[in-house]
Order: sequence, then C-alpha cells, then structure tokens
Amino acid sequence: MNNYFVIGNPIVHSLSPVIHNHWFRKYNIEGHYEKRKLEEEDLKNFINDIRNNKNINGANITVPFKKKIINFLDELSSAAQTTQSVNTIVKKNGKIIGHNTDVSAFNETIKNYIKNKFDNKSLNSLIIGAGGVTSSVISSLVNLNNINNTLYIMNRTKKKAEDLVLSGLTSASKRPNVLDWGDIPQNLDIVINTTSVGLVKDESLNLDFSNYKGTNNTLFYDLIYNPKETNFLTDAKKRGNQIKNGQMMFLLQAKHAFHLWTNIDVEIDNEVLKLVDQ
Ligand code: ATR
Repeated sequence: MNNYFVIGNPIVHSLSPVIHNHWFRKYNIEGHYEKRKLEEEDLKNFINDIRNNKNINGANITVPFKKKIINFLDELSSAAQTTQSVNTIVKKNGKIIGHNTDVSAFNETIKNYIKNKFDNKSLNSLIIGAGGVTSSVISSLVNLNNINNTLYIMNRTKKKAEDLVLSGLTSASKRPNVLDWGDIPQNLDIVINTTSVGLVKDESLNLDFSNYKGTNNTLFYDLIYNPKETNFLTDAKKRGNQIKNGQMMFLLQAKHAFHLWTNIDVEIDNEVLKLVDQ
C-alpha cells in the first residue's frame, strides 16, 4: 500500500483525503491518504517516517508548516525554491523533495478570472497576510503576462510582509508595496485573503472595508475553501462586491500533487466538484 498524508494544524477543515482517496479508487491505484494534525516539533520525525518507511510515498503540507518543513527536506523544485513554500512532498530515489503546486493552481484560477472579467491590461491587487501561502500568490501575480500589475500587501505583523517582499521573490521594480494594517487603498480589482483567519468558523479579520468605495467589479478572493463562505466573503457580498473561495485552487493544487505522485493527469469533473461541495 502507498500511504500519503496531509499535515497541518488545524487540519480538521482539509478535504484532501476525500479527493485523493477518490482518485486512488477511480484510477485503480493502491493508495491511501489521511490527515494528521502535527505540532512544529513533530515535523522532523514526520519526514524521517517518510524517509524510512517504504509504504509512505508522499505528503501535502498545509497551514502553518509550508515554510517550516523546508529545513528537513533534501531538495526543492524551482517553484518551491523561489517561494520558499512547500505544499507537496515527493519521495524519489530515496530523496525527500519539496514541491509547490500552489503557484500554478493560483495562477490558473486567476488567469481564468481575469480573462473573463477584465478587458483592461492593468490590475490593482491587495494581498492580505504574509504566511506560508502568500509567497505563491505574489509569485503568480508578478508573473502574469501582459498585465500592468500594482501589488499591495498588508499583514497584521507588518515586519513579516516587509521581509517577504525583500526575500528575492520579485525583482525590485515588481516588489509589492507594504501597507499598514487597515490602510486600504481604493480602486482595487482583487483583494486576496491569504491568512488562516476564517478556517475556524465565524472568525473575522480585524479589517474594516466599510469605507471601501471600489467598483462592484472588485473581486474578494479567499484562499480558504472550507468553510465555503468565510466572513471575509459574506461581508464583501453584502457590500455588492464579487466573491470567490479557494475551492478551484484547492482542487488544482491537489491535481498537480497527484500527478507528481502517480504521473496521472486527473480530471476535475462534476463528481469531484460534488465531493468538495459538502
Ligand atoms: P505562519 O504565520 O507561521 O507563516 P501561516 O498559517 O502560514 O503561518 O500564516 C498565517 C497568516 O495569517 C499570517 O499572515 C498571520 O499574520 P501574522 O504574521 O501577523 O501572524 C495571519 N493571521 C493569523 N491570525 C490572524 C489574525 N487573527 N488577524 C490577522 N492575521 C492573522
């Protein structure tokens, strides 16, 4: 049996086991996937377990370990290296390799949205947070072709956002502007919540958008997919803005992880959508 895990804390929200076990069954692969709640001090042993147990083949890494896991890995893919963020681990020829499938997953969802909604070639985006997945969002947005991008970032702990934008993620000319917490610019096209706030139902970001006078076209995008509608999205909907949750990004990062493990290019069909739409 090939065993796979998703590790995080909290982990109760994760639908990764539902999706990957569905694909193992559908494609007749002898595999089993489960979630594990870990503490930071468990990370080293977890990677040693993968290294030493021939029945464990890989893992997904989620909040808050996407950066912290890197210390224990042998190699990084180029996306993982650039973002210093790992969401997928592959065991290959005895080596434990960290990959990042969040960048391409976010990229595909945002490209589709922009294509359908925005004719103009300029985009003002506000990124909220500076945690493990934020570098993937920045890396994707700065590399959008033919788009004149202005990026803003704010994080409760401003220093972390400052360190992130100086970390070599972008060239100096494309560096996001770091704002004070709550200093919300007008005329934004996209506002993205990359924090973990909302994973626990009814949690709210302490940010006041009531004076935000953007167009109705402004998209509020929460990377959280479970719950399906966080307070960040509910409030935006009440203000008349567009909303999008992280469901498609979640499915795409899972699809790319599954491909790394099995070489199978899975379909995101209605059956899969129904599984995550619970
Ligand atoms: P880490 O912070 O260890 O990288 P993460 O889960 O990947 O872990 O990131 C959590 C993100 O959610 C951070 O941006 C964090 O802000 P801080 O850097 O100030 O901690 C943000 N976050 C968590 N709780 C928050 C809250 N109550 N209000 C605002 N932001 C919060």
